[in-house]
Amino acid sequence: MAQGLASPDALDQIVREMDAVEAELGRQVQSQVRLVEQVGSHTLSGGGKRLRPAFLALSARATGLPFDRGRASRLGACLEMIHMATLIHDDVIDRAETRRGRETASAVFGNTASILSGDVLLAKAMSMLAQDGDLGIIRMVSASVVEMAEGEVRELEARGLFDIKEDDHLEILRMKTASFIRCCCEAGAMMAGAPEQMRSALGAYGYHIGMAFQIVDDLLDYRGKAAETGKPRTTDFREGCATLPLIYLRNVLSETEDRMARAKFGNGVTDEELALICEWMKDRGPFDQAQQLANHHVKAALDALAVLPATDERKLLEIVADFVVLRQS
Ligand code: FPP
Ligand code: MG
Repeated sequence: MAQGLASPDALDQIVREMDAVEAELGRQVQSQVRLVEQVGSHTLSGGGKRLRPAFLALSARATGLPFDRGRASRLGACLEMIHMATLIHDDVIDRAETRRGRETASAVFGNTASILSGDVLLAKAMSMLAQDGDLGIIRMVSASVVEMAEGEVRELEARGLFDIKEDDHLEILRMKTASFIRCCCEAGAMMAGAPEQMRSALGAYGYHIGMAFQIVDDLLDYRGKAAETGKPRTTDFREGCATLPLIYLRNVLSETEDRMARAKFGNGVTDEELALICEWMKDRGPFDQAQQLANHHVKAALDALAVLPATDERKLLEIVADFVVLRQS
């Protein structure tokens, strides 16, 4: 757990920086093409935690080194636009109708318009990166986008695999989520011209936070309240996507239960059957076991920060780490 509070000044600074990111995002989603602007504005106004630009700005500040605030808001918006593009595409893949308590872009505008407008957002983000012109950041972000997309394809390959190995599943989480959060933190360090030791500490923080974030996301899919997460529940099981709660549950099922769970995985499971499966996950340890792995990653993230100077921004990164495991949405 993070100790103590960050100063009101530091909070004020980061709020102002996030406002600047929001203003930049508002400018960037404008387009001469009506549908592109509609899909972009719909996604932007749906809100979101804006974690990626926050990681960029906090990481840069946590180095204690000076950096250009204008660059931080443009790069922050660029990273958020990449994230927005991936979520628009992900909702098409997952056939999701709601996100953040609202209809997804695909539910409102259809799959084709959403995929293409997501492509425009991604292309604009790449162009913003080129404008920024830092070759190291361009190389890292583009490699991470490739990894994220490959992670999503690996997840697709693993669809319907009830017996996926835990390590293979964790590698998918690393590729589809942790790689990019790591990249946002490292980009912050690079923007501030930080030495290698700080950059790799912030990268390690981002990796562990990303793993914890996705593990908690997958837990919320089973045990979150739809009213709080803004997404429907138990979609992973319904769609045949095995995540940690199911991977751990496999070890504690009787033969009959195992037969039922396998037969129903991604295959017309009823609400009653899912309620029973969730009960097993709650009572027999899988939820706790997955939560423990998320906690372990948060602890590793906090440990990684130890080499950084003890600033308010480091404190804020610690607070964000706790939020990741405690969040309900
Ligand atoms: C959310 O996972 C999805 C991701 C973390 C990655 C999505 C990546 C792609 C669709 C491929 C790359 C696309 C582009 C535009 C480069 P989830 O479905 O587990 O989370 P959820 O519960 O929020 O839907
Ligand atoms: Mg999804």
